[in-house]
Amino acid sequence: MWRERAFMAVLLLLVHKIHGGCPPSSCGKISNISYPFRLKGDPEKCGEERYELGCENNVTVLYLYSAKYHVQAINYKKNTVRVVDPALQHHNLSSLPLRFLSRSNFSDTYTQKYFYQSDPYQAGLRASVNWESLSFSHIVFVNCNHSVREKEKYVESGEWVKWEGKGYSYAIGGDLKAEDLEVGCEVKLVAPTSLSTYNNHSYTSMHTALAYGFEISWMQLACQKHCPVFYKDCYFDSSKQKLKCRQALLNNGTVSILQLYISLFNIAFFLSAMNK
Ligand SMILES: *[C@@H]1O[C@H](CO)[C@@H](O)[C@H](O)[C@H]1NC(C)=O
Ligand SMILES: *[C@@H]1O[C@H](CO)[C@@H](O)[C@H](O)[C@H]1NC(C)=O
Ligand SMILES: *[C@@H]1O[C@H](CO)[C@@H](O)[C@H](O)[C@H]1NC(C)=O
Ligand SMILES: *[C@@H]1O[C@H](CO)[C@@H](O)[C@H](O)[C@H]1NC(C)=O
Ligand SMILES: *[C@@H]1O[C@H](CO)[C@@H](O)[C@H](O)[C@H]1NC(C)=O
Ligand SMILES: *[C@@H]1O[C@H](CO)[C@@H](O)[C@H](O)[C@H]1NC(C)=O
Repeated sequence: MWRERAFMAVLLLLVHKIHGGCPPSSCGKISNISYPFRLKGDPEKCGEERYELGCENNVTVLYLYSAKYHVQAINYKKNTVRVVDPALQHHNLSSLPLRFLSRSNFSDTYTQKYFYQSDPYQAGLRASVNWESLSFSHIVFVNCNHSVREKEKYVESGEWVKWEGKGYSYAIGGDLKAEDLEVGCEVKLVAPTSLSTYNNHSYTSMHTALAYGFEISWMQLACQKHCPVFYKDCYFDSSKQKLKCRQALLNNGTVSILQLYISLFNIAFFLSAMNK
C-alpha cells in the first residue's frame, strides 16, 4: 500500500506544472483569457499551445478542426467555452453556419481516448463520465422534394432558407433518427446549439438557439491536471460547482494493471511536453 501512495505522490509532483505570473489577456468582450487559454502573442509559458485563441477585429477566435469560431463566453468553473459559427447573425434568419459540425466530429464521442491522444475539446457525453454540465444538441437542416406536413418534427424554414433554390426546406431540433428521415429528403447541414430551451416548433426560435452558440469543454485536460493519475474518472459536480475525481483505486484498494499502464503513458506525455 505505501508503495502505491509513494508512487502517486511522485506522480503528483511530476505532473503539476506551474502557470503563475500570467495576467489574463483580453480581446473584445472576452476580458478574462487565462489558463488553459492564451492569446496569440502571449508568452509561451501562459496557457497551452493547443488552446491558443486568436483576436481578429476585436473578436476572440477559437480554432476547432481548422474552422474558426467566435468565443462568446468562457466558464472556468465548468471548464467550458461557448462559441458560435462566425456566419450566424442574430436577427438574420437566413444566415446559416458555414460549417457542418456535430458531436461525431469530436474524436472522443464514441471511444475513450487516452489523454495524450485526445482532441483539445470535447463535446461528447461518454457513458463513463457524468458530463451533465455540458448541453449539446443539434439542429438538422433538410431539403425535401415534397412537402412534409404530417411530421411534427419538421419545422418549415423555407421562407428563409433555400437550398439551391429548390425543394421544401425544414429544420429539425434534436437528433435525427433514421426513421425520421423521409424518403426524398436530404440532410443539408447539421449544427450544434447548447441552448436547450428553444421552441422546437418555431424556426425563429431554432435560429436563436444556433446564434447563441454551443459549449465545448476542455474537461479531459482539466481532469488530467486535477486528478493526474486516473484521469478518466473525473466529473463536474454541479451542486458543488467543481471537478470531482472518482475513487481511483479499485474497491479492494489495489491499482489495476490498466490504470498503471494509462498512468505511465500520461507521465511519458507530460515529461515530453515539459522538455519541449
Ligand atoms: C473592442 O471591444 C470592446 C468590448 O466590446 C470595446 O469596449 C472596444 O471599444 C472595442 N475596440 C475596438 C477598437 O473596436
Ligand atoms: C478570471 O479567471 C481567473 C481564473 O479562473 C479567476 O481566478 C479570476 O477571478 C477571473 N477574473 C474575473 C475578472 O472574472
Ligand atoms: C442575411 O444572411 C444572408 C445569408 O448569409 C445574406 O445573404 C444576407 O445578405 C443577410 N442579410 C442581411 C440584412 O445582412
Ligand atoms: C465535421 O465532420 C463533417 C463530416 O465528416 C465534415 O464535413 C465537417 O467539415 C466537419 N466539421 C468541421 C468544423 O471540421
Ligand atoms: C420538442 O420539445 C419538447 C420539450 O423539450 C419535447 O418534449 C418534444 O418531444 C420535442 N418535440 C419534438 C418533435 O422533437
Ligand atoms: C422524391 O424522391 C424520391 C427518392 O429519390 C422519389 O422516390 C420520389 O418519387 C420523389 N418524389 C417527388 C414528389 O418527386
